[in-house]
Amino acid sequence: MSKQSFTLTNNQTKQSYEYPILEGTRGPSVLDLRSFFKDSGLFTYDPGYTSTASCTSTVTFIDGAKGELRYRGVPIETLATEHSYMETCYLLLTGELPDKDTLQDFDLEIRHRAFLHEGLRHLFAAFPDNAHPMATLSAAVTALSTFYDDHKSCQDDAGYQEMARRIISKIPTIAAFSYRHSLGIPFIQPDIDLGFTKNFLTMMRAYPGGKMHLCATGHEEIKEVEVRALDTIFTLHADHEQNASTTVVRGVASTGAHPYVAISSGISALWGRAHGGANESVIAQLELIGSVDKVEAFIERAKDPDDDFRLMGFGHRVYKNFDPRAKILKGLQDELRVELNLNTELMAIARKIEEIALNDDYFISRNLYPNIDFYTGIILTALQIPKSMFTPIFVIGRTVGWITQWIEFKKDETSKIARPRQLYRGK
Ligand code: ACO
Repeated sequence: MSKQSFTLTNNQTKQSYEYPILEGTRGPSVLDLRSFFKDSGLFTYDPGYTSTASCTSTVTFIDGAKGELRYRGVPIETLATEHSYMETCYLLLTGELPDKDTLQDFDLEIRHRAFLHEGLRHLFAAFPDNAHPMATLSAAVTALSTFYDDHKSCQDDAGYQEMARRIISKIPTIAAFSYRHSLGIPFIQPDIDLGFTKNFLTMMRAYPGGKMHLCATGHEEIKEVEVRALDTIFTLHADHEQNASTTVVRGVASTGAHPYVAISSGISALWGRAHGGANESVIAQLELIGSVDKVEAFIERAKDPDDDFRLMGFGHRVYKNFDPRAKILKGLQDELRVELNLNTELMAIARKIEEIALNDDYFISRNLYPNIDFYTGIILTALQIPKSMFTPIFVIGRTVGWITQWIEFKKDETSKIARPRQLYRGK
């Protein structure tokens, strides 16, 4: 019997089966159960995939116990503090950080591909004025596939890169148009003189034809600190290995559908408040709490097993010590408080929640710490971005991760259609 194996014994039949243990470069080893059903006639049962590795990947590594996150081997702290979101995109897509010239070419290509086919613009008119930007975004990305049908059959590196760069470029434009449609105000076309993040903020805020910007405190220019903060948020969201929405993207990829339809499905999966929708729910919850003196009562509700109220922005399936992205954002939040002179009631409520929950046995014993969504909600509010755009901003950051994982799935010769089985207990 090999040491690199695991033996399972059926206690009814006394029959034993030996399975190989696969070693990764880091992280827990994996028991290869691919032939288990053929061997034993039994299925494995793992709702929510809490013990299941669904694929082999070289993109992102997470050590949840240590609070470690790396894209292509590079620590998230390095990327967030020393590199831009554009560099991070290039790293995820190719496996290497770009040199200066390569970055310039990549950045220019992304700027030039940001325009939408005029036909796609008419789609927005079909939605009601108050349509949530996530719904419009998902529909528009599906519609985008009709303009680039050939991407369905791309299968070489050049084809993959063109398809991926196109969707990364166009997602901010679609998101900004979805937002402006929800307000009933004219769309602002991309500006190739502006970098990725500033261009997105401009498409959201600018008055048509002018330099003025829509913003709660008046008509201000976009500040560099805002661009830096949003760029960091994009980087922190860029990939997160086999999370719920990425699993959906790979699942759709497995059927052979168009890559942009897979991205659209990822957008829909992200919208839920147990996933990317949590950032919008965090602020809705802070508004519901309303004042610092009410925080304790809401914390008690979150702890009550008979109340399904949960503290939004707390807890994570993988991080059981701290979320490294949240740690970076907490630092950014403190910086912004000084630079943008923010001391709102909402921030005071958030600080009080953090303070109580981090010292409360209920949260400590269950390893419930603030996650990335707790701080993005607060920071995006500080940047005067409306709540309905929080999850679309998550989408903009995550698109590169989804498409990188889509390409990895396509290139993997062991990939199969996603088709789990069930424990039937019906009539
Ligand atoms: N508030 C109060 N209690 C919580 C919370 C919370 N936010 N999260 C988990 N718990 C409790 C559960 O009630 C459960 O308690 P019990 O053992 O007494 O029954 C225990 O902690 C474990 O919770 P599970 O739901 O089993 O944990 P799971 O890993 O399945 O869920 C999840 C993780 C979905 C993120 C959960 O913590 C949650 O709902 N958090 C709030 C929503 C949120 O912030 N989502 C964003 C996640 S990050 C992202 O997607 C980018």
